[in-house]
Amino acid sequence: MGDFWVRLESTVAGWPLWAKLIVTAIVGYLGIRFAIKQAIVPLTDELRQLLFSIRTTVASWFRKPAAVEPAPPQPTRTVPLERTIWEVAKVSSRERPAAKSIPIITIANMKGGVGKTTVAANLAAEFQSHYQRPILLIDFDYQGSLSQCVLGEAGITDSDLTADVLLGSSKEDPLHYKRQMRRLIEEISIYSAHYPLATMENNIQNQWSLQQNFDDMYFLCRQLKRKEFQEQFAAVIIDCPPRLTVGSVNGLCASTHLLVPTTLDDMSAQAAEYFLNQIARLTESELIDLRVIGIVPTIVSSRTTYQNHEKQALKRLADYGNLEWKRQDLILTDGQIARSAAIARYAGNGIAYVHSSATAENFGKLGAEVRKRL
Ligand SMILES: Nc1ncnc2c1ncn2[C@@H]1O[C@H](COP(=O)(O)OP(=O)(O)OP(=O)(O)O)[C@@H](O)[C@H]1O
Ligand SMILES: [Mg+2]
Repeated sequence: MGDFWVRLESTVAGWPLWAKLIVTAIVGYLGIRFAIKQAIVPLTDELRQLLFSIRTTVASWFRKPAAVEPAPPQPTRTVPLERTIWEVAKVSSRERPAAKSIPIITIANMKGGVGKTTVAANLAAEFQSHYQRPILLIDFDYQGSLSQCVLGEAGITDSDLTADVLLGSSKEDPLHYKRQMRRLIEEISIYSAHYPLATMENNIQNQWSLQQNFDDMYFLCRQLKRKEFQEQFAAVIIDCPPRLTVGSVNGLCASTHLLVPTTLDDMSAQAAEYFLNQIARLTESELIDLRVIGIVPTIVSSRTTYQNHEKQALKRLADYGNLEWKRQDLILTDGQIARSAAIARYAGNGIAYVHSSATAENFGKLGAEVRKRL
């Protein structure tokens, strides 16, 4: 071994200085790398990650940016003009709500979870308190949320389905199935919904298509024109699912007015616009004959100040109202409904209006705003 070092020393002594420096650098580098590798084993993962990210960051300073490949051309897509079954359906006679009808207000929007049912239930309680006369609610959403709220408030726990009789599903007189509530809401009556309604609606629509006869789109309209409804109730409020179902279309055909609840975010604003465009088309094709009361902002963060995304959504809706509907009053800002713990507390088992004074005050403003436009 001693021999080896002596021979190495004499060999190296003969090298030029630059060769000695290079060899020393290489040996030094390998030595340090080896030492770090040995030392790094017990280091924690965090430290390794830190070293790794320092290395990759420093490396990225010297890396040339990769040339951006142009995106391959995509086939262009023109969405075919949308025509609902209702617009192309054969109807032998179209009905209109009675000229001096009581207000029949459909509450609808194609977007789910925006507060339609909450507005329907609480507005019914507000109307009842204002008019001091009975109000009729119709639940056309097979999920039955409105029915749960209203029946729950009346202390009825069993689910119930009667709204289908207003779509012509039964030979019996629909008046027979109107349920009057009790307790704090005894002046409210309801035709309720439950899951089987979804299947029934599909079957009804298939039957109409097979028979090429959509006259019963106006079944509800014909019913609500009867004096038994017109004389007993101060107003009718119809809650819809977020789709143009047999029930929704019957509701729209029978209604004198439409109220569109929406939350204030960009996606919901877009959905409200899309839905109102559909309403404009149904009106143009003379299928429906109602007045759009407007868009009511719901679940807003506060009644006094908006967050930025809410301001943007409001602006978007206001611009849409001006441009497409030539209306500066399309949004019911005075009637907007704030997010509230009381409303959330009674979801599905009651009506917040009859328990919470803050909710009553908020819906009082919406009720007043709606009545101005009836
Ligand atoms: N102002 C509010 N403050 C707090 N929670 C609210 C408010 N409005 C609605 N909610 C809650 O938001 C949820 C959705 O409301 P709601 O059922 O009224 O919406 P929807 O549009 O009818 O939904 P769907 O399309 O499913 O029928 C419910 O849990 C409800 O309690
Ligand atoms: Mg609902």
